Amino acid sequence: MTDKLVITPWEIKGSVMGVDYEKLMKEFGADALNEQVLARMRKHTGQLHVLLRRKFFVSHRDLNWILDEFEKGNKFYIYTGRGPSGPMHLGHLLPFMLCKWLQDRFGAEMWIQMSDDEKFLVKPDMKLEDAQKWTEDNVLDIIALGFDPKKTHIFVDTKNAKTMYPQAVRVAKHLNLSTAKSVFGFTGETNVGIAFYTAMQSVLAFLPSALSGKQIPCLVPLGLDQDPHFRVCRDIMPKLGYHKPAVLHAKFLSGLGEGGKMSASLPNSAIYLIDSEKVVADKIKRHAFSGGQKTAEEQRKLGANPEIDVSYQWLQAFFEDDDERIKKIHEEYKSGKMLTSELKQILIDKVNAFLKNHQAEREKAKEKVDKFWWKD
Ligand code: TYM
Repeated sequence: MTDKLVITPWEIKGSVMGVDYEKLMKEFGADALNEQVLARMRKHTGQLHVLLRRKFFVSHRDLNWILDEFEKGNKFYIYTGRGPSGPMHLGHLLPFMLCKWLQDRFGAEMWIQMSDDEKFLVKPDMKLEDAQKWTEDNVLDIIALGFDPKKTHIFVDTKNAKTMYPQAVRVAKHLNLSTAKSVFGFTGETNVGIAFYTAMQSVLAFLPSALSGKQIPCLVPLGLDQDPHFRVCRDIMPKLGYHKPAVLHAKFLSGLGEGGKMSASLPNSAIYLIDSEKVVADKIKRHAFSGGQKTAEEQRKLGANPEIDVSYQWLQAFFEDDDERIKKIHEEYKSGKMLTSELKQILIDKVNAFLKNHQAEREKAKEKVDKFWWKD
């Protein structure tokens, strides 16, 4: 794929497979999640989460500082969020999965933002009431991951304004229009709500410090598209007397189509957390781009290219947790011993096993959800 990758929080254009993450990291001014920093984490966690071992989380800002503080006894909290504009797909869940693991391993508090205001402001056809409805739906997927209700707080921008707004205006006072324009590409047509929104997304990066009067380090796992908000936020935090939040960047889980983005606007490009077994099997069989050959015969002879094969990439990113097994799948698929249909079946079984458990936990989350909302 040759089209240029364009990344902002509201638009990912171009191929997300084969992205040169080294180059992107340099452009963003982030550091690679290298062996040195991973080894430091491992000292506290034991075996690393598959998303870290396979480098799906690819880069960071200030993770060493988070670990320095942790080692001095100053525990960090975790912050991430979701813009509720429809049902969640697998890509949306990945940062939350790492958060759940971090909460367990480091005993960390978890602060979650549901940015219903953002989705209302950004999407021309979105009603505020619908974004609020999706909030109620999406939190079930988040809670289903097993966050500790005693240590997890969910904020909704339009509902928790009493707590959030006074902090947001403190940020907004330092965020000028030229910065917002140059970071996000805003024009004269952009509504002023969107220009303000970065101030709202910054709030939970320092709210626990503001409320407690102590400097509590903040770690933000997110998809790379959200980094621009935190570049702005990190510049402003010292002006308010707070540390910059540390950030952990996930790569993009590719959509099912060739080189593609997983996008809500292309329903067959994504697997939703509420998809049935049959829908999952159907989407993968029919839409998962294959790096294999046209016929089984050719595949046996020439082998496949796992690097462009969506099913392999998904197994490698997350779904095949066993390091030996994924190596074997790579060898067999590449050499032609394994056919595309066999590889796809492995993925279908993994995704369906994951979703079966997830959907059961999602049902149970309905009973627990009240424990998670932030009360102003
Ligand atoms: P949203 O709802 O678009 O996405 C939620 C989270 O999922 C990540 N993400 C992906 N990660 C990997 N592969 C994909 N295909 C993929 N698609 C989405 C996003 O990067 C994001 O981390 N403005 C935010 C909500 C938000 C937030 C935050 C996110 C509020 N506060 C703090 C991160 C940190 C949004 O609309 O995300």
